[in-house]
Amino acid sequence: MSSTSKALLTGAIALALVSPVLAYDFGRPATPNEIALWDIDVRPDGKGLPPGSGTVAHGKQVFADNCAACHGDNGVGGIKDRLVGGWGTLASDAPVKTVGSFWPYATTLFDYIHRAMPYQAPGSLSSDDTYAVAAYILHLNDILPPDGKLDRDSLPKIKMPNRDGFVPEPEFDPAELFRKK
Ligand code: HEC
Repeated sequence: MSSTSKALLTGAIALALVSPVLAYDFGRPATPNEIALWDIDVRPDGKGLPPGSGTVAHGKQVFADNCAACHGDNGVGGIKDRLVGGWGTLASDAPVKTVGSFWPYATTLFDYIHRAMPYQAPGSLSSDDTYAVAAYILHLNDILPPDGKLDRDSLPKIKMPNRDGFVPEPEFDPAELFRKK
């Protein structure tokens, strides 16, 4: 190989390594707006909650329009998951796990509905409608009063009934999974 072709080859390899986007045409970097559309996760402490708010009263309407067909009129008795009740059953032979009886964080309710419900049209609810319908489900579970309202400040302050029901498994050490045997 001549020294010129060597130099060219070295140059081509360097370009491929330094700039895979150019070399393989992977597209362009996502814009901040595009990233924001996907960056919707809400953490247990409420980090990531968007602006907006919703009342129990409005949530009742959102639920009737978008959720009751699968989850039943009051979150019970529908063709899909029950969302209400089940208190005191977790330690029994027939535990009934619902938002009210099982879920440890109310913030997860917002996150889950906003990203995954209604089942046939995930992501279609506005932030206001999501706050409202979350408020309504918490109301059905006796966690919020009928005149309750939720926003990014009040939602993380709700203490769910089963918040302290999760106990760490003393034998389970996640770091162990990654430790070399
Ligand atoms: C077409 C039927 C359908 C509609 C409409 C629907 N859901 Fe669901 N929902 C489901 C199914 C199916 C699951 C279980 C999904 C899974 O386990 O992956 C579910 C699960 C849930 C859960 C989690 C239950 C649990 O304890 O694990 C919540 C909360 C929920 N839906 C809320 C809503 C809300 C709020 C709406 C309206 C905005 C809605 N759903 C509309 C079918 C539906």
